[in-house]
Amino acid sequence: MRRYLLKFLILCIVLINISCENDSENDLIDVTPVQSLITYDNTIKSIIDTNCIFCHNDPPTNFAPMPLLTYDQVKEAVDNRSLLDRVSSEDISFLMPAGGPRLPQATIDLILQWNTDGLLEQ
Ligand code: HEC
Repeated sequence: MRRYLLKFLILCIVLINISCENDSENDLIDVTPVQSLITYDNTIKSIIDTNCIFCHNDPPTNFAPMPLLTYDQVKEAVDNRSLLDRVSSEDISFLMPAGGPRLPQATIDLILQWNTDGLLEQ
């Protein structure tokens, strides 16, 4: 009887130990990821810098009509120059970057999401 009791106690200690080891912070905190908003500063500027300012520089080159160096310039192009349609187009003669290739879909989606989020600067 004593032996069983001892075994039982050891088993309890082992089990308590295991359950403690599994108590990661993730179990304690609600880990629903906070979906941060897309902003010009955190996402869009680097996409434009990498893919567009080769031509849309200030002054622009290769017959590009306007610079895309600042938040105001990029926002203006979304509002008045169909920037969203230009980057999502399937029509190579209309598509930006001019001459292609089309941006990766994930990158296009980030630009569209920026618009959905309200074209925030920061
Ligand atoms: C190889 C040079 C080049 C690159 C790179 C380029 N563009 Fe252009 N872009 C042009 C030229 C040239 C025009 C004018 C001809 C036209 O409208 O198709 C233009 C026109 C535009 C227009 C329309 C302007 C208007 O007033 O109607 C937008 C918007 C635009 N580009 C956005 C972009 C964006 C965003 C990128 C990057 C994803 C980009 N462009 C990359 C050369 C370029």
